[in-house]
Amino acid sequence: MRIAILSDIHANEEALRATLLAIEAEAVDRILCLGDIVGYNTNPAECAALLRRAGALCVAGNHDRAATGQIGTEGFGLTAARAIAWTRRRLDGDLRDFLAGLPLKLGIDGRIVAVHGALHPDLGCELVRLDNDERRLLSFEALAAHPSGARICAYGHTHRAELHEYRDGQIRRLSGDEIALRHDAYYLLNPGTVGEPRIGDPRASFVVLDLADHRVSFRRVAYDRSVAVGKTRKAGLAPPLIFLPEPVRAALKRSLRAFRLHGAAREALRRLRP
Ligand SMILES: [Fe+2]
Ligand SMILES: [Fe+2]
Repeated sequence: MRIAILSDIHANEEALRATLLAIEAEAVDRILCLGDIVGYNTNPAECAALLRRAGALCVAGNHDRAATGQIGTEGFGLTAARAIAWTRRRLDGDLRDFLAGLPLKLGIDGRIVAVHGALHPDLGCELVRLDNDERRLLSFEALAAHPSGARICAYGHTHRAELHEYRDGQIRRLSGDEIALRHDAYYLLNPGTVGEPRIGDPRASFVVLDLADHRVSFRRVAYDRSVAVGKTRKAGLAPPLIFLPEPVRAALKRSLRAFRLHGAAREALRRLRP
């Protein structure tokens, strides 16, 4: 069975359309979406409709649950909370029911467990960021004890495409676009983000997991990001930096980085003083 796994669409219709088109060419048997269908961008209803039309199996992300009021926006950044308030005002009954009905965890054929944030803990797992080995270990332990016998946990939320392996008590980050999986290891697999890139590659990202071949393929999809950014800006939802032209933003980021480095160096020198 070949499964396309995608996550963190964040109401970016252009990114999702391009991604679904790329998935069509992959001849997959199933599409699995790891949540955060809404938030940040301006096409929540369109994205939910596209996923439903594609027959995607979905779990709930923290932005989906916040949009329906199942959780609050404490802990959300200013831009994220503003987009949730905007989305709440535009949810119709159908979209609200769809989002509110999404499960937090989903198993597929005893082979994969799908979550948004982490496999642990039972309560609030959609808010946990699997961005360090301490947390990864807790989710690996939950996976090893999972009654389904699954060895792969697919998760999103960090917006970072990556694969970690757990074997002989060690966690290893695996690199490469095509990775063969072992039968005696456990895996945490993140397909990255479709619609809300943070740093580095701005393209949409997804993975194809081939359960027969025991292989993961990371894919990137180029699309015209300026359309979604333009709509987000017009709706007043863009973060302040996005209003500036790209060369100015790049220069500002460089200065900020230099300023931070300068501060870190000063702090290190201060500590060296008796
Ligand atoms: Fe997200
Ligand atoms: Fe999230």
